[in-house]
Amino acid sequence: MTEKIDQVELREETIFTWGAPPLKFGAGALDEIGFDLSQYGVSRVLIITDPGLTALGIPQRIADSMKRYDVHAEIFDGVHVEPTDDSMEKAAGYAREQGPWDGFVAVGGGSAIDTAKAVSLLTTCAGELMDYMNPPIGKGVKPDGQFKPLVAVPTTAGTGSESTAMCVLDILSMKVKTGISHWRLRPTLAVVDPLLTMTLPPEVTAAAGMDIVCHALESYTAKPYTAYDRKQPEDRVTYCGSNPVSDLWSERAMSLIAESFRTCVHDGDDVEARSNMMMAATFAGMGFGNAGVHIPHADAYPIAGMVKDYRPSGYPQDEPMVPHGQAVSLTAPEAFRFCFEAAPDRHLRAAELLAPGRDRGDDPREELPNVLVDLMRDIGIPNGIGAVGYTESDVPDLVPGVMKQRRLLETCPRTPSEEDIAGILTRSVQNW
Ligand SMILES: [Fe+2]
Repeated sequence: MTEKIDQVELREETIFTWGAPPLKFGAGALDEIGFDLSQYGVSRVLIITDPGLTALGIPQRIADSMKRYDVHAEIFDGVHVEPTDDSMEKAAGYAREQGPWDGFVAVGGGSAIDTAKAVSLLTTCAGELMDYMNPPIGKGVKPDGQFKPLVAVPTTAGTGSESTAMCVLDILSMKVKTGISHWRLRPTLAVVDPLLTMTLPPEVTAAAGMDIVCHALESYTAKPYTAYDRKQPEDRVTYCGSNPVSDLWSERAMSLIAESFRTCVHDGDDVEARSNMMMAATFAGMGFGNAGVHIPHADAYPIAGMVKDYRPSGYPQDEPMVPHGQAVSLTAPEAFRFCFEAAPDRHLRAAELLAPGRDRGDDPREELPNVLVDLMRDIGIPNGIGAVGYTESDVPDLVPGVMKQRRLLETCPRTPSEEDIAGILTRSVQNW
């Protein structure tokens, strides 16, 4: 598509977009949500969370603190870890039956925040989740209407979902993970209180932290926004490729990770390290929430969606799962080996930010994969997709689930073919 500006015909993209919700960050931020919601004229709110957090009393504490500002809160704690179309429809059904609500508060990891985004969507717009999912899985309908205020309160340092306009879910019938992305899904306010992460077990801290690492790396190495065809304003998507503003946040996230990730896993009581990782998660969200992510996240969808019997320690044991942060990291070393030639300087800069002063080897292509493998070994991430139950013979079944993530693969600086993805998965059965 071309456009005329002052007689100059523009075929290349010259525009990038960047967005993030207002942020309230710091110890004790949790107890100010009532005031914040009252500023939006909210008086009846649904807190969307999971049973584990209810047991810790966190949603109730938020509900109690809101009374001071005449905000009445009820709690829905039916969020499913790694939410599905079914669990999201159920949450939306509850919200519709018990509504109307003036607003929503999501308390939890990405699962709770993404479920709240779906609830917000389905209580505002007509239709079903499938209508709004990214094509080719869904119809890609663009949500409209006036969404209610949504305050997102992350309790893990990972997904960055509090900053993004994306909602990720499993489609049970298709055994595939996919997403809905639209700027209207972006939370109205992110309230980030690092003290909420103090009790997370090391396994969860490690997996969630690898999600941050991948967000920062994938958005930093994403295809630049200038490499896309020019879009019409109505066709602009929330992910526009790497851009100067996202780069700043991704770089800073990597430095914070270098400083504090290992400490957080090995000494969870270190408040400064916990705070740094929470900031890294938020910063990386501000990066990838606008630039996008690519191969490691595309691979993670079927790796998590087609799980067999793997039950990771530190997580609920009632059903098998590959935590998102593990799923994204398992093919990351191979994915960045593959992408290296398309953006060598960025890969080298990222390796330096994540491991400052590290001795360089002879092969620049191996720098970033080596940094990732060292980190994953140190914090106890499983050694490749083989360690979560897949063998080489599963690769042909995993490939179609990756290829369905068209939007993500197009964000890669070097677009992979089916054979490329099969090779990346095969060489990721074992990473070291
Ligand atoms: Fe992620």
